[in-house]
Amino acid sequence: MNSGYNSDFESVKGKCKELPISDQFIQELKARTAIEEVISDYVQLKKSGRSYMGLCPFHNEKTPSFSVSPENSFFHCFGCGAGGDVITFIRKIENLDYVEAVKLLAKRAGMTVPEDGRDDGMGRLKTRIYEANREAARFYHKQLYTPEGERALEYLRKRQLTEKTIIHFGLGYSPTSRFELVNHLKSKGFSGSELISANLANQSKKGYPFDRFSDRVMFPIIDLRGNVIAFGGRIMTDIKPKYLNTSDTPVFNKSRNLFALQFAKNKANGQLILVEGYMDVIALHQAGFENAVATLGTALTNEQAMLIKRYCDEVVICYDADEAGQKATQRAIGILRPTGLRVKVLTVPNGKDPDEFIKSYGEQGSTRFRMLLEKTGNDIEYAINKLRAEFNTDIVEQRVEFFNRVVPVIAGIDNTVERDVYITRLSEELNVEKSAVANLVQKNLHRKQNKLRNDAQRQAASELSAINDRMNKEKQFRLRAASAEEALLAVMLRNSDVAGKIVKNVNPELFITSFNRRIYEVLRERVKEGREIGIEDISGDFSIDEMGRITDILAVRPRENDPFAAAWEYVKVLENERERLTPEQIEQSSPEELNEYIKRLRKMKDKG
Ligand code: UTP
Ligand code: MN
Repeated sequence: MNSGYNSDFESVKGKCKELPISDQFIQELKARTAIEEVISDYVQLKKSGRSYMGLCPFHNEKTPSFSVSPENSFFHCFGCGAGGDVITFIRKIENLDYVEAVKLLAKRAGMTVPEDGRDDGMGRLKTRIYEANREAARFYHKQLYTPEGERALEYLRKRQLTEKTIIHFGLGYSPTSRFELVNHLKSKGFSGSELISANLANQSKKGYPFDRFSDRVMFPIIDLRGNVIAFGGRIMTDIKPKYLNTSDTPVFNKSRNLFALQFAKNKANGQLILVEGYMDVIALHQAGFENAVATLGTALTNEQAMLIKRYCDEVVICYDADEAGQKATQRAIGILRPTGLRVKVLTVPNGKDPDEFIKSYGEQGSTRFRMLLEKTGNDIEYAINKLRAEFNTDIVEQRVEFFNRVVPVIAGIDNTVERDVYITRLSEELNVEKSAVANLVQKNLHRKQNKLRNDAQRQAASELSAINDRMNKEKQFRLRAASAEEALLAVMLRNSDVAGKIVKNVNPELFITSFNRRIYEVLRERVKEGREIGIEDISGDFSIDEMGRITDILAVRPRENDPFAAAWEYVKVLENERERLTPEQIEQSSPEELNEYIKRLRKMKDKG
């Protein structure tokens, strides 16, 4: 099969010994990796002073708040709080484990991860799931050529898929008996629980695994690195559900992947076609439109929009012509446009989906679809045409209503020249003075901009506090303590000599919020083992979100002139804060206890 499976996938196997990847290796890797170069594969960066700025790939934004500092080897987004070193960046953007991200970067730097590079528990499970999925795809494909699978092969042929297409997409068939795949994979050494984790099998009431897919045509879903991550299975009758898909697993998140993107990304040439169904994608690829992709049985998500943005600058939405399809189109426009993509809408005539359309023209299918593609209007034309169809502009009242509804659409266009083109057109179509149209659009524009600004401010503020809350829930109750803790951690991360002194003298118990205490414990452990604790050294010890919070701490804090003195100040604040009760404790204390408490506080104050 050549479905884009990763041929050197096998090489990942058998590297499960006990040692972690050595610090030395990681340091060497980082020394050979320029963070700004790695990130510019994903984000357009512009030099700004000593750092680079760009649009954050982790949230939608129009003005750059994503900064990369080559000097400190870290990135930070002031909008959404994402941040960390180059490994954290790769983990987050490629959705990888620590070890997987290190491997990817090592490959890029021309280094080989040493044999003692152990996968952590989750990494190991993911590797097993990839292997099981890959073997399952092979198994399903082979079934097409067995007597039982003949019906499925016949079905695919009836839907006019060629042998080449069937092989290219690695299509297959899942047998009726509920045990064939499970037995096959067990004979290959996979455990029942691995198959259940992969969602290739379900668990019976009595606890044994049985095949999830039975008597269905199978569509493997493959990620950008060539791993089989999931399956869609279509029933060959009218029974529902028509498609059964793999539920989310450790290697599969249906809102973060797109069907056939592994092929389409190389054929995009600036444009991707977004369709609704697996069969639409396959029919389009077979007809020569190899830049088609589909969502995976759910509505388009922001994450998928960002993914599309990475591989093209224009997207053609080509959903079903039915009402549901048109609703989904409106929604998709709303998600795609804010990413800065040019959006076009292709409506297939006569209520057909792209697959049916192409087939209905036989030999001519491809040419016909090409014609549709060429006369596709952009999303603005689509919206205006839709409105025009709703109103009879020969009737004055309806013409006015049409006009009122079109103005906000035109005001939504960012580009002034483009806006002017539509203003001219509209004034001609409705026979209205151009300046009158322009005036109304301008008014609408101001209203929109004000609203946008307010919304953006509100959102930024709430996002920021949400992030804080999520990572360190105690912070809001112990603001002073948490700030001192963060300041102390920042000094340590920046000055290893200070860190050495601190860990000898400060117990983790001094930390009041448990999130910061955990960071401290990890740093302390590393210092004691004689390992480095720069921001670029520690990313293996923290989750992506935690790394984001830690770089946040560093990003907002100026360097201290005298780090030693500062560190002891922070320790003093913490000692002081330890004596303080939380609001809940105060509520639950007896009057006597509170009296004691107040006395203690006074004493502390006197001491300074
Ligand atoms: P469609 O019903 O348009 O599927 O659903 P299709 O690809 O055109 O299939 P054919 O032509 O009838 O064989 C669009 C997509 O929605 C998801 C699948 O991803 C499908 O490709 N879907 C649909 C499901 O996940 N489950 C369903 O039961 C139906
Ligand atoms: Mn269809």
